[in-house]
Amino acid sequence: MKKTKGIILAGGAGTRMYPMTSLYSKQLIAVYDKPMIYYPLSTLILAGIKEVLIISNDETIPHYQKLFKNGSHLGMKIEYAVQKAPKGIAEAFIIGEKFIGKDNAFLILGDNIFYGYLNFLRDAVNNNKTATVFGYYVKDPERYGVVEFDKSGKAISIEEKPKKPKSNYAVPGIYIFDNSCVQRAKKLKPSARGEVEITDLIKTYLEEENLNVVKIGRGIAWLDSGTPDSLLDASSFIASIEQRQGLKIGCIEEAAYAMKFIKKAGLNKIIEEMPNSYYRVYLEGIYNIV
Ligand code: TTP
Repeated sequence: MKKTKGIILAGGAGTRMYPMTSLYSKQLIAVYDKPMIYYPLSTLILAGIKEVLIISNDETIPHYQKLFKNGSHLGMKIEYAVQKAPKGIAEAFIIGEKFIGKDNAFLILGDNIFYGYLNFLRDAVNNNKTATVFGYYVKDPERYGVVEFDKSGKAISIEEKPKKPKSNYAVPGIYIFDNSCVQRAKKLKPSARGEVEITDLIKTYLEEENLNVVKIGRGIAWLDSGTPDSLLDASSFIASIEQRQGLKIGCIEEAAYAMKFIKKAGLNKIIEEMPNSYYRVYLEGIYNIV
């Protein structure tokens, strides 16, 4: 089976989040008790992905480097690359060309948060033949890329932010592609808004009947945190679950331990280097019970 490498696209204009985004990109802003980027990183870890490229603007990259270093403490390999300007989501594959090498790629947007039983992601990575994207039922599909299915459940069209959506299925910011995504992305022409659109990249697979669209069931929460209101909603959601269960969402150290990227001694080392904090106390609890 081919290896799949992860990319987190964590730059962007962040216009809707100004002035919070005047110093660095929004994925460093807290969603309840940890920086936003912890959530997509933990999603990749839970999907079994050990090699990750974080792409952002040049002001923000040093902050991510400080947070995650080279990833070895998590049993991972984390690299960094600059996107000079937010010229589109599909550009991630052009910037990531060298990093991807001959492997497959799993792209996640830095403001996408998933909660629930995420094994479907591991299955999607293992079962991906050419391209796999997801469909998530939402009330307001016009805000997203929207996928239409025929009666047999096969995806037949995908449209970016349509005025009249053909279904309620939005495409969340997680995409799994074979290695050809790099060359496909290079051939895309920027759209009217000047971006190389992920929807156009997906369409190239759809037109060849090489696109698998997996519907995500109701047991999974998908939140994005790109506006002040959705950020507050995401924080409240995470806080409610964490307070009720006493278990954290998006805790990268716990995820790396659960996925056996690190052993108990590795977790202990991470804990010992942490300041005395609620986060540390939580990880000590994980260390002591598991
Ligand atoms: P968007 O929602 O398209 O953009 P944004 O949230 O940065 O900006 P605005 O508030 O101005 O609409 O981006 C989705 C995610 O992808 C977000 O995490 C930022 C990231 N992104 C990049 O890193 N580079 C890009 O070129 C684009 C288009 C997005």
